[in-house]
Amino acid sequence: MKRGIIITLAAAGAILVAVAAYLVLTAQPTEAPAPVASTSPGANSEQQAIPLSEVAAHNTPSDCWAVINGNVYDLTTYLPRHPGGDDIERACGIDATKLFETKTTDSGESLGSRPHSSAASQQLESLRIGTLAS
Ligand code: HEM
Repeated sequence: MKRGIIITLAAAGAILVAVAAYLVLTAQPTEAPAPVASTSPGANSEQQAIPLSEVAAHNTPSDCWAVINGNVYDLTTYLPRHPGGDDIERACGIDATKLFETKTTDSGESLGSRPHSSAASQQLESLRIGTLAS
């Protein structure tokens, strides 16, 4: 009786091992999932082409995108850290290339004494979310 149970268990174990070995040997490498199109520009490492009309929709300090030299930046998180204070908010929703480079408004008002430093341009790069669609 006891011997019968042992033989049964051994047989069951052998079957389990055989099944496991079969599964391991026949397993196909899983294919990488196809890239999913995302509506959130920041979600992709690829840079998206974003139209100016889309940038224009992000024109508040709590949701601030700007175009500078053909690239689109999400400045929202940077606004509170901007050493130049609130003036950066003027860039929200527009092509702010001239504003960033000269600190001078379209009406000729000068907001700063000198152009932004290269450090400022470097900080900008980490905020890039896309390129301006042509
Ligand atoms: C486009 C709208 C912007 C305007 C009107 C503006 C204006 C200013 C002003 C008035 C100052 C104070 C210094 C001075 O008197 O010249 C300043 C400093 C500074 N801004 Fe802006 N800013 C803008 C965008 C940005 C952006 C997008 C960044 C970086 C992501 C940035 C980074 C800095 C830095 C790092 C300083 C310290 C001085 C320097 O390193 O150049 N600014 N800004």
